[in-house]
Amino acid sequence: MIWVIILLCLLTFIVYGFVTTIKPQKYPPGPVWFPFIGSSGILQKMTKKFGSEYRALLELSKQYSTNVLGMKTSSELIVVVFGVKNVRQVFHDKDFDARPHNFFAQLRNLGKKNLGITFANGDIWKEHRAFAVKNLKYVGYGKTVMEKEIQNELGQLLEHINNNRHGPISLDSLLSESVMNVLWTYVAGERIPLVKLRYMLSLFRQRGKAFTVGGGILNQIPWCRFIIPELSGYSLITKLNAEISQIIEEAIEKHKNKEILGNDFIYLFLQEIYANKSPTFTEEQLKMVCLDLLIAGTQTSSNVLSFALLRAMKSPDIQEKIYNEIVSTIGDRTPCWNDNESLVYTSAYIQELHRYYTIVPMAGPRQLLNDTSIDGYLIPKGSTILMSIGDINFDPDLWEDPHVFKPERFIDESGMLKNSEHLFPFGLGRRRCPGDSLAKSFIFITLVGILQKYRIQSANGTVPSDKPIIGILSTPQPFSAEFTPRKKDSEF
Ligand code: HEM
Repeated sequence: MIWVIILLCLLTFIVYGFVTTIKPQKYPPGPVWFPFIGSSGILQKMTKKFGSEYRALLELSKQYSTNVLGMKTSSELIVVVFGVKNVRQVFHDKDFDARPHNFFAQLRNLGKKNLGITFANGDIWKEHRAFAVKNLKYVGYGKTVMEKEIQNELGQLLEHINNNRHGPISLDSLLSESVMNVLWTYVAGERIPLVKLRYMLSLFRQRGKAFTVGGGILNQIPWCRFIIPELSGYSLITKLNAEISQIIEEAIEKHKNKEILGNDFIYLFLQEIYANKSPTFTEEQLKMVCLDLLIAGTQTSSNVLSFALLRAMKSPDIQEKIYNEIVSTIGDRTPCWNDNESLVYTSAYIQELHRYYTIVPMAGPRQLLNDTSIDGYLIPKGSTILMSIGDINFDPDLWEDPHVFKPERFIDESGMLKNSEHLFPFGLGRRRCPGDSLAKSFIFITLVGILQKYRIQSANGTVPSDKPIIGILSTPQPFSAEFTPRKKDSEF
């Protein structure tokens, strides 16, 4: 009898294994599915070979000559969408508005399903996205008050450069500290203590490089965390979660104990909880919204700025054009966001940075709410969808000489800034980035403020590579530069 049971179990196991390799009808092309792990093994191998999951997916789309790539992990159908038409469909069609609740999403959301903004769905997402956008504006975010905060941070950066300018300086950690300070002032009404801030940012940097928007191996084969907790990134993300949680919980406690008084986001959210108008306003939800703002806002903005400084160093002619424009337009005055209209070349430079270095090369993840067709393929409800933005930015049908770094492409014949409908660094549609005004002002004011005062040159004559490290974000390799004052000390 026992042998019959064993045999039946074995047979079921084999049949189930076989079933997991069958692709749904009209499913997009992609690598073969192996029993239980789907195409995860192939993707891992390709990721190793091409240096990032993003590049591996691009390569697979070329291999299968498709703009819609069909994959499967151990438990999830994953469809990667390429090309401007398909990506726009995902951004705009309501069926793609949701986020998946896969293993990576659960980890990222501290195990809290459907809380926060980034990984929330349905009514709670709509309500809290709208609340955050409205109330961050109310506390000064996106207004001249924010500009003052950014200018204040710029002052500190310039002071740091001035104090250390006799040797090479590495600015990347200082840039993320600046943006975090501005953001946290709006959220929590205070700065994060420097030692904590630095530790948390170092974890953020590791996370940005180690993970991908699809969650990497940890999402594809979740049980691998028990075998390779370090290598899979599991230890890193749990450490980061604990660190951020503590910072946010302390800030909430301080508000409850009235140690911090003022109109910041946490204060306004707590008033909403006390007023008891909506059951979705809870301390847990407040914590998750704060977490989303911290995670989404910091590394993205500082990475663009790091690339801005790196590129200025690599292209001295471009740097001189920016400097001359700054001097002839605003002179020595501290820059403000409105200057972006008159600093046309500098603004075009920032647009070109967004295109050339695409900070979010793969947007999403989204979860499909109904069976849908993309490009003639049938995508089953529940599939996870990723959108490849990086290759749109190099599509020769959309951009002339896409591999040439050329800010002029964003300037029209009459010398005005020309936006392109094909460039959408902050996404499109209902999940579009709500932090764009902070990011844009921060990048513009800080870049102009630094180039106004200093010429950036490579340290020891070696120009560092600008080949990005691609994980969830595109991150520049660490570099340092020499900062030479444009004017003598007495003229500062
Ligand atoms: C250069 C800087 C930034 C870039 C390139 C960027 C890019 C993006 C993109 C492409 C999305 C859309 C993802 C999707 O469609 O699935 C997004 C969403 C988001 N961003 Fe940003 N972002 C930046 C800065 C910020 C800042 C400063 C904040 C916070 C103040 C922020 C908060 C968010 C949040 C909360 C979401 C999720 C929105 C939702 O799901 O409804 N981002 N960002």
